[in-house]
Order: sequence, then C-alpha cells, then structure tokens
Amino acid sequence: MFSLSGKTAVVTGGGSGIGRAISLLFARQGAAVHIIELNTAAAQDTADEISQAGGAVQVHAADVSQQAQVQATFGAIGRADILINNAGIAHVGNVENTAEADFDRVYQVNVKGAYNCLHAAVPLMKRQGGGVILNVASIAAHVGITDRFAYSMSKGAIFAMTLSVARDYLGAGIRCNSISPARVHTPFVDGFIAKNYAGQEAEIFEKLSKSQPIGRMGQPDEIAALALYLCSDEAGFVTGCDFPIDGGFIKLNN
Ligand SMILES: NC(=O)c1ccc[n+]([C@@H]2O[C@H](COP(=O)([O-])OP(=O)(O)OC[C@H]3O[C@@H](n4cnc5c(N)ncnc54)[C@H](O)[C@@H]3O)[C@@H](O)[C@H]2O)c1
Repeated sequence: MFSLSGKTAVVTGGGSGIGRAISLLFARQGAAVHIIELNTAAAQDTADEISQAGGAVQVHAADVSQQAQVQATFGAIGRADILINNAGIAHVGNVENTAEADFDRVYQVNVKGAYNCLHAAVPLMKRQGGGVILNVASIAAHVGITDRFAYSMSKGAIFAMTLSVARDYLGAGIRCNSISPARVHTPFVDGFIAKNYAGQEAEIFEKLSKSQPIGRMGQPDEIAALALYLCSDEAGFVTGCDFPIDGGFIKLNN
C-alpha cells in the first residue's frame, strides 16, 4: 500500500520542516521528487539525504510568488502527478499592527505562491489524465487564533482554493485536498518564536506545546504520513476535503 512508484511529485518548500519530511517520505515510497525552493542550500541538503538512500530527486531554485519562475520550473519538470503546495511564511499581528508590506508579503508567498503552482501544474495534470494536489492550510483557516490576522487570511484562501480546484477538475481526474496542521515543531515555529518573543523562547515554546490538547506539538513526519495517504491511489475516493491534524486543537480545546 501507499506506493508512489512511477509518480512525479513536486514539493514546494522541501528544504525545511514539513516539506522536507514529505520529500523524504515520498521519495522513499518511490516517487521522483522535485523540490521547488528559495533556499537552495537547504533543498540540496534534503536532496542529498534522498540520493544517499537511493531515491530520485531534483532541486529547482525558484520563488513561488514569481509566476514566470514557477512556469519555467514546471516547464522544465514537464510532468506532475502530485503537487504539494507547502511553501509558506508566518506572520504575527492583528489587523491594526499588520503593516501593508507584511500583509502583501504573506499574500504573495502563501496565496499567490499556491495559485502560481496550481496554474502551472493543472494543465500538466489534465494532459496526463489526472493528478493529486495537496495544499497545506492550517488550523488558522478554521478557528480564530490570537495575532494571526494576515496568516489566517492566507490559510483561509488556501482552504477556499482547494474547494474551487477540486470542483473544477472533478472530470479531469484531479483530486485536490488540504491539510490543516496545528503547531508542528519545525524551523518555521522556532523562527517566529525567536523573532517575536525574544527572551521568552522556552516559555512560549511550552505555551504553544500545551495549546494542543494532546500536550505537544506535531512532528513533521506525522504530517508527511497523512500527506502520503492523501496523495496515494488508496485515497482515490477523497477530494474537496480539509483534514485537520492538530492534536485535538479544533475540536477538543474546551
Ligand atoms: N509548523 C507549523 O506549526 C505549521 C502549522 C500549520 C501550517 N503550517 C504550514 O506548513 C507549511 C510549511 O511550514 P514549515 O513549518 O515546514 O515551514 P519552514 O519554514 O520550516 O519551511 C518552509 C520552507 O518554504 C521555503 N519557502 C518560503 N518561501 C518560499 C518561496 N517564496 N518560494 C519557495 N520556497 C519558499 C523556505 O525556504 C523553507 O525551506 C507552511 O505553509 C506553513 O504555513 C506550518
């Protein structure tokens, strides 16, 4: 079960955290993995680990927010059985203290970046007779989280784009779903704690861990396992859905 043998998987942001875990697992399951990354050194590190384990991988330097770069990259790859729209950035702030430049940046990467990859990948999938898309949303798309104004906006858009694409390409054999993780322990979390809560790192880490009723953050490998199921042939009946993977955050925080 869950073999990806013979499939080409494109993963954005595969140099770190969740994207890295997905790239490693999908390669182990037999996919030829293409990592689209801004941080090519980090992507190369993921690629080296895949190659050493005997997997197939290529790194593509591109900024997902730039449509011309994304189009050229998918043109070079030439095929996409699986697309993982994972690259994303964080932002902490409410509507009053979110600066226009920060709002635009979150929109450009998290929303337009996903659109750019969908725009480039869907025609390839149509031509091939089908494909699978997995968009990485967040619990912030579904519940109100303190000080996540721009970020929540971007993840709500991911959720809505998932439904739109799933609906429009039912007849083309393309499945499209999203996943909504709560806090997962990645450099993304460490980075925004360091940037926004300097001097209180341990305290905030503990607080963020406890905000999942299960009592801890998720691990990237746990997210990758759900991604594998959703992108496998075994999930052939699953489309147009969002899957929280959240240690009980959405339903049990009462
Ligand atoms: N970690 C969490 O707690 C958490 C929770 C819910 C959702 N998410 C989402 O999961 C996704 C991955 O998060 P992570 O924690 O693994 O993050 P991360 O920061 O560890 O990794 C993200 C990767 O994306 C790359 N990237 C950023 N901007 C890019 C761009 N413009 N073009 C190409 N690559 C770019 C970065 O270089 C980095 O390697 C994000 O969409 C994030 O919003 C994370």
